[in-house]
Amino acid sequence: MDDLPPVNIGAPRQPAPERRVGITPYMAQHFIEAGHRISVEHGAGAEAGFTDGWYRETGCDLVDSAWESDAVVTVGRPAPAELSRMRPGAWLLGLLEPLDRPEAMRAPAAAGVTAMAFETLPRITRAQSMDALSSQATLAGYGMALEAAARLPRILPMMVTAAGTLRPATVVVLGCGVAGLQAIATARRLGARVKGFDVRAAAAEQVRSLGASFIELDLTPQDAAASGGYARRLDEDEETRVLRQLEEHLADADAVITAAAIPGRAAPTLVTAEAVARMKPGSVVVDGAAARGGNCVLTAPDQVVEAGGVTIVGPTDLESRPAADASRMLARNAYELITYLTSDPAPGEDDPIRAGVTITRGGEVVHPEVLARLEATPSGAAPSGETPSEGTS
Ligand code: NAI
Repeated sequence: MDDLPPVNIGAPRQPAPERRVGITPYMAQHFIEAGHRISVEHGAGAEAGFTDGWYRETGCDLVDSAWESDAVVTVGRPAPAELSRMRPGAWLLGLLEPLDRPEAMRAPAAAGVTAMAFETLPRITRAQSMDALSSQATLAGYGMALEAAARLPRILPMMVTAAGTLRPATVVVLGCGVAGLQAIATARRLGARVKGFDVRAAAAEQVRSLGASFIELDLTPQDAAASGGYARRLDEDEETRVLRQLEEHLADADAVITAAAIPGRAAPTLVTAEAVARMKPGSVVVDGAAARGGNCVLTAPDQVVEAGGVTIVGPTDLESRPAADASRMLARNAYELITYLTSDPAPGEDDPIRAGVTITRGGEVVHPEVLARLEATPSGAAPSGETPSEGTS
């Protein structure tokens, strides 16, 4: 069905601890109105509050397995047994981690499945409504600020009371992309004094527009922006200078939130053990890059680490926690992408959005960036500096 619009679109139940679902009842209705049939696995939306009855009311078919559908909207990568149920030529759409786990893309290729990954969608204006990396990062950033607030032994806002005046907490956010900016916005709404830092010079204005101050470091060059709006990896000398200069800002913080990333690579180190040793007892580090190796060297994914009175947490389920809203946004992204890909006339193979998301087709890995990574590591082993094997979106 490579060149045909999907007829039957499936939403499988995701394995725990994932709580999101790829199609919500609301978006199912939109798909059905557009002429598609929707198959939803029993209980697929339960963790997000979307009951089977709700899907049924909107006209979905409730099924034991949705993997046989023409197009499957998943959240994470399917297990081999699930993939083996898919039809050759069927579409698999989700957060498939093709850059972090290129070797895992051999399985959908071998199954003849057309795998499409949100991670490689071009970040162009007309693709914004399909951008699941952004929609999910927004919620992760919100969750990081809440996590910091909940873990701190103090409140974020200033409070003038009969029992005395409480100073606002100082929150430092490192890595001000989509997630970091939302962490700043949330911490500001909660009343904290916020400082942000990013190696991309363009981030400074965005940080300031949210009412936070930007941490200016003495760096040469000042801007480490690379293509596509992403950051490039710093060289050793640059990294040493960043880490040294950041230390004094971290020592002053009540909460440090990190959300720094470089696509397809291990997360850059921004918080060293020495920096943590200088932080105030009772302060908190929330590492939003825990699944990609962490921005703090002491981070242990999904564990609480105590070091000299500083609490370091690295939750890997930040996108999944607000499962209803995360699913709503993801389902909207999937709807917009599928609608675009099945429009008449359908975009050709060289269309930037179609070519951007398509990782495998006709039994082969076809995405140039994924192919390059596979060729660099023919055995499938992660090359040095790449994201550790269990990295997630
Ligand atoms: P990301 O998740 O890859 O990285 C997060 C942040 O970490 C980035 O701002 C990056 O500059 C920063 N970073 C990397 N290394 C660092 C280091 N050593 N120290 C400090 N910060 C470091 O980025 P995300 O959030 O996916 O956004 C990437 C870019 O894409 C941004 O410029 C964003 O504005 C842009 N974008 C554009 C969209 C569009 O439709 N035009 C949609 C969404 C994002």
